[in-house]
Amino acid sequence: MGKSKGLQPVIVALAFIIATILAALPAFRPDDVPVFLLMVGRFHPLVLHFPIVLVVLALVAELVRWKGWLKQADAIMVVLLSAAAVTTLISVMAGFLLFASGEYAGLLMDRHFLAGAITGAAVFLALGFFLLFRKNPRFYPLYLACLITGNAAMAWTGHLGGSITHGEGYLTEYLPFLVKGSPSDAPRSEEEMLVFEDMIAPVLDAKCASCHNAERAKGRFRTTSLNELMAGGESGKSGIVAGDTSQSEVYQRVILPPGHSDRMPPEGKTPMTADEIALLAHWIQKGADPALRIAEVRQDGAIGSVVESLLPDLARYRRKAAVAKLRAEELRKELEVLATKLDVIVEPDTMADGDTYLLAMKFPPAPFTNDQFRELAPYSDVFSRASLVSSGIDDAGLYYISRMTNLRILYLQKTKVDGSGLIHLQKLPNLEVLNLSFTKVDDKAALDLLNFPALKTVYLHGTNTSPEVVEALRKYKPRLDIRMEEGPYL
Ligand code: HEC
Repeated sequence: MGKSKGLQPVIVALAFIIATILAALPAFRPDDVPVFLLMVGRFHPLVLHFPIVLVVLALVAELVRWKGWLKQADAIMVVLLSAAAVTTLISVMAGFLLFASGEYAGLLMDRHFLAGAITGAAVFLALGFFLLFRKNPRFYPLYLACLITGNAAMAWTGHLGGSITHGEGYLTEYLPFLVKGSPSDAPRSEEEMLVFEDMIAPVLDAKCASCHNAERAKGRFRTTSLNELMAGGESGKSGIVAGDTSQSEVYQRVILPPGHSDRMPPEGKTPMTADEIALLAHWIQKGADPALRIAEVRQDGAIGSVVESLLPDLARYRRKAAVAKLRAEELRKELEVLATKLDVIVEPDTMADGDTYLLAMKFPPAPFTNDQFRELAPYSDVFSRASLVSSGIDDAGLYYISRMTNLRILYLQKTKVDGSGLIHLQKLPNLEVLNLSFTKVDDKAALDLLNFPALKTVYLHGTNTSPEVVEALRKYKPRLDIRMEEGPYL
């Protein structure tokens, strides 16, 4: 006992020092954190559950202690508060490192970080004041205030954190419909309703599009438009062949038996119902005609009753589709704000077939550097084209570009890139065109191009590459088109 008495002032002092550090943490912009530490950040979503439980438990225990229902109450409180403090500290530090990785940014992130730091500081203060309170009852109100503040701040932190991972408005996603009534697009009259657009597409949107959309096209396949559906994906098989279900990969995949590894959607996701599949088959057999009206099919014997039974589900799917549209609209607005802030051009990429964006410099280019890239990091997968000509990006900045997994075209001419960071770009599965003209890219860096999975065209005019290496590249990667010209800018 004597020993722990001597330790107590030290713990109190330590608790107050850590509380001060945590409270000051949001003032620091994490920068240049060693990469191995960034990995620790990945544990944040895992460890944060411990403080959530312990901080709440401490408040509950305090209530019980205060009522006098707890034996050994003080010892239990010390243990609980200490555990809450330590796990909060670990969560905040892991969160700080995750933040430092640049994977998350923006206003929500700033607030989440601030709230987390407040939580941490409050919990440590609660521990410190509780220890003081055991000696002097005057400290009770301070201790209680900190404990309650810690709980409130934690609830706020958790809410903001949830908004970051699930998207802002995760909890209120369906609220607009309570307020605004039904989706904005005026529904077609029953007479005009179309089989594909009004019945099949909403089902695919609800059950397939989460994996097969512009940002995330599993199997390089998208279900978000009729053209993309027909085209199919990486297998090279057509998604839909008019009049022939046996050649239509979409149909073939959904009729596979449960447990089959190729079945769509994969195990664990809501499969298409028998009625939905029957309608899909009927529509394909009738020529996969987008103009086929529901009214025509409704009279049609067996399939007519399928349509009847599907109609009630339709409203639900349509609502879901409208929510997705609302999200896309929100994204567009956020990108607009960001573009103004960074003084760059962000607009829909008209050359791409999905809902992706183009990132370009204004002329004359703003001093766009690696730091600005970090701000774009949370949106990295919406870009399919980036023109960074004459910008301040260098090889370290290519790390951020390597997050732009949907990038197809990248223009880096006249930048400080010397090629040492090209290796990051090998991770880009869709990068087809790369312009490195008028950079210091040398032979060694040029050889890294051999490992680019999708590269079709590269511009190397005005670089430090030798004709011999260019020759070698042409030999080992004959399908790569190496151009010794400056190339386009946009
Ligand atoms: C949970 C994610 C997920 C969902 C949901 C999903 N898929 Fe897939 N899909 C994949 C993955 C992963 C692949 C690539 C591997 C493969 O070919 O099996 C794929 C591949 C495909 C392909 C093959 C593309 C090609 O040509 O290689 C088709 C067709 C397809 N999906 C159709 C669908 C349909 C139709 C639905 C909805 C009923 C659906 N998927 C729902 C993950 C998903």
